[in-house]
Amino acid sequence: MNNHTLILGIETSCDETAAAVVMDGVTVLSNAIASQISTHRIYGGVVPEIASRQHTEAICAVADEAMAASGVRPEDLSAVAVTSGPGLVGALLVGLSFAKSLSFAWNLPLIGVNHIEGHICANYLSDNDLVGRKFLCLVVSGGHTHLVLVRGDGSKKVLGRTRDDAAGEAFDKVARALGLTYPGGPAIDKAAQGGDPLAFAFPKANIEGSIYDFSFSGLKSAVLNTINKIRLTGADLPVSDLAASFQKAVVDVLTEKTMAAALETGEKNIALAGGVASNTALRKAMAVACEKNGLTLHVPPPVFCTDNAAMIASCGYFHYLNGQFSDMSLNASPDLLL
Ligand code: KG4
Ligand code: ZN
Repeated sequence: MNNHTLILGIETSCDETAAAVVMDGVTVLSNAIASQISTHRIYGGVVPEIASRQHTEAICAVADEAMAASGVRPEDLSAVAVTSGPGLVGALLVGLSFAKSLSFAWNLPLIGVNHIEGHICANYLSDNDLVGRKFLCLVVSGGHTHLVLVRGDGSKKVLGRTRDDAAGEAFDKVARALGLTYPGGPAIDKAAQGGDPLAFAFPKANIEGSIYDFSFSGLKSAVLNTINKIRLTGADLPVSDLAASFQKAVVDVLTEKTMAAALETGEKNIALAGGVASNTALRKAMAVACEKNGLTLHVPPPVFCTDNAAMIASCGYFHYLNGQFSDMSLNASPDLLL
């Protein structure tokens, strides 16, 4: 393994405690994840204080599992990469303190990674050919919605971002109003499968002045108003139809803006990233739109779309190649921008 670069990645920005070992930025040797979803589900969303505590309880075992499953010895590691933001400050601090301790104890360089950049790098794990190539990436997660042009050298230009709610946040809030469990995205995805996407015509926000920016709060309010109006009549909520119609409104706008950006930039490779990229309807709509426009679609498997540490280790590898290291003053940046 001596000719290879082996990075241990650590991720604790939200509700997954994760550690992974990745070789040369693309080959996943291990990918350990302890999910806190069942705990937060009781509260209908992530409780930051509980998330921090659970990260503290889980991080040692998760890192041990990742190291053991990879078969890599600490002395063979090249660096430790850790998410420094954006995310929940208390949750980020657990991963950061842990990674700094490892860096000190095992004498490894420390690399701070931007979580959104990590999501984009998930594509390198499932599609090694994307490394060094230019592509357009739609990042859709619980906290972020970005349309990003990734250049061959890895530098990035943000073409658009959400002005209010992130796509995943809209899924989670609408799901809650529909009485579905947290996290709302997978629950809506499932409920929508038996529903009529044309049952309700929900608005698709277009932002004046910026064609690639997104807005989901108007759509969310429209769905919540519709739910309240139906409730007032005493009728049963048509959960599947509401879920399918809401999902269609989100998927349509994400697909339309991505296609418009692809046509304007001339970019032929389109990639998806983030938890919402696991959405069945989004994957289908993007596949159809890409086929129609002669574009190639890249989508990581769901386990690399939702939060994981393999994507952080992959991102860390590219920082390693560029000599971008952090020191012990590395701090949590809850609002870190891409
Ligand atoms: O990337 P991620 O795991 O964490 C953040 O960085 O936010 O994304 C979590 C988000 C949640 O909002 C969740 O509801 C959404 O991704 N999500 C989905 C699906 N699976 C997860 N949204 C729609 N459809 C899905 N199948
Ligand atoms: Zn994420």
